[in-house]
Amino acid sequence: MSKLNVAVLVGSTRRDSLNRRLAEALGRLAGERLAFTFVKIDDLPLYNQDLEADYPESAKRVKAEIEAADGVLFVTPEHSRSIPAALKNAIDWAARPWGKNSWAGKPAAITGTSPGAVGTAVAQAHLRHIASILGMIVTGGEAYISFRPDLIDAQGNVTDESTRAFLQTFIDQFATLLEHL
Ligand code: FNR
Repeated sequence: MSKLNVAVLVGSTRRDSLNRRLAEALGRLAGERLAFTFVKIDDLPLYNQDLEADYPESAKRVKAEIEAADGVLFVTPEHSRSIPAALKNAIDWAARPWGKNSWAGKPAAITGTSPGAVGTAVAQAHLRHIASILGMIVTGGEAYISFRPDLIDAQGNVTDESTRAFLQTFIDQFATLLEHL
């Protein structure tokens, strides 16, 4: 079976993002089943409806990558107990213009990591709500990853056995869902 294409949106745009590292580790765990396309969101202008008349190229690119994907994976930090503004901005651009919502009907999985004890739980809950409203088919379950400095090694491998097994199950379940849709 050929690999299914997953559009990956990392909620952090910073260079050394822990969430980016988690997303890359999930890509390794997905192995031969899923091909990850990392969607660039840091060149999007701040959403403004006035800009829709001449839709920005970066926003067209994001929409095209979402539409071409078999599923969407969100890997996001929590900012002030919600999703980062950069991620919400990308979601809004791809949801527009009216009647051309690129998210509708897309299967989606959500996870995220933070050094904090309850990190990303509230952000993920908010994201789950937004994704549902936009018509995504959001997978059930919870995946909150508490980040330690040595959790993922330089090669992108998850070093902790139980966390690796948990993430393997998480990505395998998403792959199985995509394969059956
Ligand atoms: C944070 N951080 C944070 N962590 C958390 O668990 N809950 C929160 O509400 C917040 N709020 C928050 C706001 C802002 C503006 C910043 C910059 C940070 C800490 C955050 O989890 C930490 O910086 C992670 O390392 C962010 O993930 P990336 O950027 O490394 O992927």
